[in-house]
Amino acid sequence: MASSSFGSSIVALFITFAVLIGSASAVHLSIRYYNNSCPKLLSMVKDKVDSQLEKKERIGASLLRLFFHDCFVNGCDGSILLDDSANFTGEKNAIPNRNSVRGFHVIDAVKYAVEDVCPGIVSCADILAIVARDSVVFLGGPSWRVKLGRRDSRAASQAAANENLPSPTSNLTELISIFRKFGFTTREMVALSGAHTIGKARCTNFRGRLYNDLDIDDVFAKERRSKCPELQGSGDDNLAPLDIQTTIAFDNSYYINIFMKMGLLHSDQQLFQLQNNGTGGGVSTDSMVVEYMKSQSSFFSYFAKAMVKMGDLYPLTGSSGEIRKNCRVIN
Ligand code: HEM
Repeated sequence: MASSSFGSSIVALFITFAVLIGSASAVHLSIRYYNNSCPKLLSMVKDKVDSQLEKKERIGASLLRLFFHDCFVNGCDGSILLDDSANFTGEKNAIPNRNSVRGFHVIDAVKYAVEDVCPGIVSCADILAIVARDSVVFLGGPSWRVKLGRRDSRAASQAAANENLPSPTSNLTELISIFRKFGFTTREMVALSGAHTIGKARCTNFRGRLYNDLDIDDVFAKERRSKCPELQGSGDDNLAPLDIQTTIAFDNSYYINIFMKMGLLHSDQQLFQLQNNGTGGGVSTDSMVVEYMKSQSSFFSYFAKAMVKMGDLYPLTGSSGEIRKNCRVIN
């Protein structure tokens, strides 16, 4: 009897211990995370983003993409910001990022300003999350409340960046499966793709579409071909807007473009494929494209919610990682 009560006490103790450990590691992100430790953070970041975007709007697109490329590679941990080091080959030169991701100087400028007021408090991963939201808002898109409390990784992985980021040659089935891997529904994937309402792409990423795809508007293709020659290696870095209509406004015209067969990337046009009865791997995204095309508010609402969800991807919290002093190098 005595030994059984001793045994159950041990079990109770073990359970209490396990619950305590569990709750300590299950630290959640919070929109109020820096309210006491760095109360001016959000206004400081917004001021910096606004002043950078006033000079050059495209940088807003680049900053939004940086956040996406951070979160899909081992979570939103600021790993994309790290330069190559003796210990690892970073993500900046992974195939989807090389000569393509931009905006690091803005993150540096924001971090510098934030460190001045709140030294050692705010992570680069969180700065990236706020900057992405502020960029979208500046360009006329929806707002959302950014959850905070992420910490920065102490490494980056070029291999993971090569493996996890979608390619512009992806078909619909591939797009659906890449996003599903990160917990996104097809509808959320279609909404997130609407980020291509801003920013630019290089010829090397849409040449195949211009010369091989059949589901492309003739006049649009002709115009784009004039600055993106068929020969590989010629004009690879020539830029074209992802959204032919309103290049710098965050709106729903991306969906109108693809409805009219004027998606710039092959992967964009995959979301609307009426020519084969709207099927792609058994799933049609045509109706979602039409819905977002007709209703900007529906697009905005799904986009904003999906961005919050993206920000929840595998954050480092508690005592994992660190708060980098300089976003480009580990402490
Ligand atoms: C659905 C799969 C996606 C594919 C295949 C894809 C691919 C691409 C490619 C190839 C470019 C042009 C890069 C270059 O030519 O240098 C690009 C640009 C861009 N992407 Fe995506 N992307 C996808 C989803 C997303 C998502 C989910 C977001 C953000 C939520 C996003 C945001 C952007 C932005 C804003 C740009 C323009 C960047 C700039 O002008 O600097 N993309 N994307």
